[in-house]
Amino acid sequence: MTAGGALISVVGARPNFMKIAPICAAWSAAQTDRAHLLVHTGQHYDASMKVQFFEQLGIPEPDIDLGVGSGTHAMQTSAIMQRFEPVLDQHRPAAVLVVGDVNSTIACALTAVKKDIPVIHVEAGLRSGDRSMPEEINRVLTDQVSSRLYTTERAALDNLTREGIRPDAVCFVGNVMIDTLLTHSKQAPGIEALTLGTGVRADSSNGYGLVTLHRPANVDDPQVLRRLIDALCKVAQRLPLLFPVHPRTEARLRAQGLWDQAQAHLELLPPLGYLQMVGAMRDARLVLTDSGGIQEETTALGVPCLTLRDNTERPITVDQGTNTLVGRDPERILEAVAQALAGAGKAGRIPELWDGRAAQRILDDLLPWLEVHGA
Ligand code: UD1
Repeated sequence: MTAGGALISVVGARPNFMKIAPICAAWSAAQTDRAHLLVHTGQHYDASMKVQFFEQLGIPEPDIDLGVGSGTHAMQTSAIMQRFEPVLDQHRPAAVLVVGDVNSTIACALTAVKKDIPVIHVEAGLRSGDRSMPEEINRVLTDQVSSRLYTTERAALDNLTREGIRPDAVCFVGNVMIDTLLTHSKQAPGIEALTLGTGVRADSSNGYGLVTLHRPANVDDPQVLRRLIDALCKVAQRLPLLFPVHPRTEARLRAQGLWDQAQAHLELLPPLGYLQMVGAMRDARLVLTDSGGIQEETTALGVPCLTLRDNTERPITVDQGTNTLVGRDPERILEAVAQALAGAGKAGRIPELWDGRAAQRILDDLLPWLEVHGA
């Protein structure tokens, strides 16, 4: 089969991998002669940030790896664009599908639309309203250049129509990341498999909390980072805290001389593979995080989540799920932890269409759409 008329899907960073996995699986099972090519930009490249995810989620090896690596926003975004353009020239795809809100998402969307190739955006319409977040810029711009927009929650349509996007370009399908969670959560190992023999003081019978932290707004400002680490160390006096450390965060903790303090009070681990992370979330008494995806995954798992941010682009996790926005104020964090430990954490319910069938809904809509609108 030639690649002419193929769909090219793009991944780049860790949170993209769990979103693309069910789309790749649904495409392989679909009745279509159209080829599907997977491009990895190389934004995330370490084994802990990439390989484990491809293996555990059964994502096929990328057909093309752009190998861009890390850099400033301008360097990274422009390097992806320069390397993606010849791929489009060579393959002349029917459309380019991008997921989420990372630099790879906007870089490939912008490259494609400028070549008159339609862009499909999965996880469209989420808005935090905070334009100091690099992801918010990526979301707004990607949606503006997309021809077909798949949403995870109904509020996304209001955000998109407010920005002038035609409602008939938008399709509410549910959450592909939750497809992946539901497929794999039974295989996720218990926390003891992760901590046995490591000296880490966290087990499911006595309970533990799980921490993730990597947003520039939380880790790049030394004062904010110090206050957050101080607050987490106080929480750890009540509940052991397991903390898989993102490479950006490790670099900042070391640069600010906070690594030793963190290591003395918190159970630090390297970044976890997907299944280990799901097991760690599932068995935790509560999760403290600044991640977007984890706000959704904890809602699906029914685990209380305290989000260390002032806003969220995923309001359904607060309105219906287990998420509470606690911000960065140490007092507020400690108070929210105390409430959750007293059993007053949110129980929540599963949002509409977070049922494991979002990728199938996307393909049911997309395959006929490509017949009419593909380049
Ligand atoms: C990126 C996304 C963010 C997402 C996060 C998940 C953007 C703007 N940000 O942030 O939305 O939540 O991924 O992880 O796209 N590094 C490594 N190994 C790697 C990758 C990165 O060591 O495999 C280090 C490098 O020092 C790099 C830093 O982490 O400079 C940051 O990586 P980058 O991809 O720029 O941003 P993230 O903070 O990971």
